[in-house]
Amino acid sequence: MPIVLDFSGKLVLVTGGGRSIGLAIARAIAKAGADVAITYTSQDATPVADKLSKEFGTVCKAFKCEVSDSREVNTMLAAVKESYGREVDIGIANAGITLWKDAHENTDDEFRRIFEVNTFGSYYLARALARSWLGEDIPVGSSTTGRPEAQQLGKQILFVSSISAIVAMTPQRQTAYNASKAAVTMMAKSLAAEWAHLGITVNSISPGYVATDMIANPPNEEAKAWVGEWTKRTPVGRFATAEQIGEFVATLVSDSQGGMGWMTGSDVVIDGGYTLL
Ligand SMILES: NC(=O)c1ccc[n+]([C@@H]2O[C@H](COP(=O)([O-])OP(=O)(O)OC[C@H]3O[C@@H](n4cnc5c(N)ncnc54)[C@H](OP(=O)(O)O)[C@@H]3O)[C@@H](O)[C@H]2O)c1
Repeated sequence: MPIVLDFSGKLVLVTGGGRSIGLAIARAIAKAGADVAITYTSQDATPVADKLSKEFGTVCKAFKCEVSDSREVNTMLAAVKESYGREVDIGIANAGITLWKDAHENTDDEFRRIFEVNTFGSYYLARALARSWLGEDIPVGSSTTGRPEAQQLGKQILFVSSISAIVAMTPQRQTAYNASKAAVTMMAKSLAAEWAHLGITVNSISPGYVATDMIANPPNEEAKAWVGEWTKRTPVGRFATAEQIGEFVATLVSDSQGGMGWMTGSDVVIDGGYTLL
């Protein structure tokens, strides 16, 4: 029997699913039969969701959500549940931003913003999902009491981290981004350890350079030369396409790879060999 990706009956949530890597993930998973909720903040992703629905015959909807605001994340998740009438099965924290600036030039606000979106945003999503799966109706700003009983919820969380969590990328200077992603990778491991007994797996992927909006527009003349340098430093000699990452993620989070419930706390590097050298 061939191995097939089959997400029928699953509801998958992808933050930043309206474009680039997030869209490619949403697309690959919708193509394999999942209903997909995508979030956006600056560009209304409703037309994108409608297109996915038409193309694959699954129910895809867009929800506005600024991931650095925990209230918005909680409200968005409540709206997703109400709209679909069920819990999310797989949550993918993909939304992220970068900043190319020397560390000594970062303002407090700039440095904080990178963490608020990349790190806090991933945490807010994971926490909202876990609370929802545990059936805990907790007011914003409050904490729960006690460690939940062991159970088999059969849910998954995936963080889109980066190889910047592992190596300090150059020639650009991006300490805030690198540190924020290192926190994301470690957070996946920590949450995996905390939630394994609940049947919630938490993993991260660490892509190398992917041809998306994030790296498409170098801010100045110096930065334009970086593209050649990044390619040279990637042993396979090219960037990934967003579609490659999307298909890869769909395989990773599918039941067919056997990882569901067993692979947890792993960081999967997909980088064209960048971190080999
Ligand atoms: N491209 C790469 O080479 C690369 C490599 C490794 C890891 N990554 C990681 O992969 C993820 C996706 O990157 P990408 O290249 O696809 O980036 P991108 O093209 O810049 O797209 C960023 C996505 O994140 C969303 N987003 C940004 N800030 C947000 C906020 N404050 N609240 C909610 N959503 C927000 C955007 O939503 P809107 O469309 O509404 O603006 C958009 O969907 C990021 O976490 C990034 O760090 C990228």
